[in-house]
Amino acid sequence: MYNSLTLNYEPVERVKILTNGESVKYSEMTDFQQAFLCGAIKEKKPKKILEVGVSAGGTTAVILECLKELGNECEMYSVDWLDFYYLEPEKQVGFFARNNMEKICGKTCHRFLSGNSIPFFIEEIGAEIDCLILDTCHRLPGELMDFIAVLPFLKNGCMVILHDVGENMLNLNEGHEEDIATKLLFTSVSGKKYYMPENDPNLNEYMISNIAAFVVDETTGENIDNSVMALSSTWQMALSVTEVKKYREIVRKYHKREVYNLFERVTRAQERLSIIKEVKKHYGGEIHDLVDKWKEAKGGVYLYGAGHYAGIYMRFAKINGLEIRGIIVSDGHQILPVSESNLPIIHLADNNPDESYHVVLALDKTHWPDILKNVEKLDNFSVIGCD
Ligand SMILES: C[S@@+](CC[C@H](N)C(=O)[O-])C[C@H]1O[C@@H](n2cnc3c(N)ncnc32)[C@H](O)[C@@H]1O
Repeated sequence: MYNSLTLNYEPVERVKILTNGESVKYSEMTDFQQAFLCGAIKEKKPKKILEVGVSAGGTTAVILECLKELGNECEMYSVDWLDFYYLEPEKQVGFFARNNMEKICGKTCHRFLSGNSIPFFIEEIGAEIDCLILDTCHRLPGELMDFIAVLPFLKNGCMVILHDVGENMLNLNEGHEEDIATKLLFTSVSGKKYYMPENDPNLNEYMISNIAAFVVDETTGENIDNSVMALSSTWQMALSVTEVKKYREIVRKYHKREVYNLFERVTRAQERLSIIKEVKKHYGGEIHDLVDKWKEAKGGVYLYGAGHYAGIYMRFAKINGLEIRGIIVSDGHQILPVSESNLPIIHLADNNPDESYHVVLALDKTHWPDILKNVEKLDNFSVIGCD
């Protein structure tokens, strides 16, 4: 069964006093959750902490105060993919901790790293991390993928604290049903686990507590394939090509070959699925119908558009082995991601009257009526999906 730790409310109360009660507004954790977190830190007495998911920095402030009270000499990194506080975008991410640094920071050497996700920073942060706090987007791949990427940088005995492990059940009316990333991590990973719903004074009717922790040991790495496999559950967020590539690079470099192979298989499948889902939504018809028509169009099709959707359809074509003859742009239109491909770019006005153009509208639907009006006048054009 799950273990308990000694809750530590002292830093929580002390930060409230030091900041005239403002920490309550700027931490996204309840007092109990902060006390659980500070209890875990007190038990571990870490030397190198990584916090991922900062927001205003209210919890960063509580952690720093906790370290100060312990008299710990410690390195701490707080990472967020945004440079600004998402609820008040005019403020810097972590602004609350930054503004109170003199009051709350003892011997800790603290750094904020922002503007990118964790695989972009982890090599700079380096190994020997002995305390990790994950509290980011909660949607898959989210914290599950982040943990897999950073595991090789964690010391044996590292205390990992996960926020929002019950989020999908706590806020059924607020659209959080998909927030399952920390729960999947907590349930799939191996190590000594801490979970204390019986001590949580804020339990609602679902009786689920929203914070948990585990300790990394030799079994965590041995069984990480379970968490990699859990990553094949449906993703609720699509990552950019560059991001997925960076995760793969880190996993390939620092994990065993077999772990990387599974990770690659799972992430490639997820990329495929997300492209197919996006095309299905955009095209509006059945995918097999699009593929069949594309194949029937002898010599391949032209994509009309040269921006985001053209990039999506290019990836879709690659996945399905479909040929693209070129990119059509209306005169004067900017050429965005496709400019790096070798596909010929044809301006609408320069079309060759002897050529047959089978076209897929690969641009935002708001432009479709204008485009259709333009091509309707041209006998040698047929638009796939709009007949
Ligand atoms: C739930 S809030 C963090 C709350 C903070 N830990 C606290 O207790 O006050 C989530 C934060 O994670 C950031 N975030 C979301 N997804 C992320 C990701 N994949 N990598 C890094 N940061 C992320 C968001 O920008 C946001 O600032």
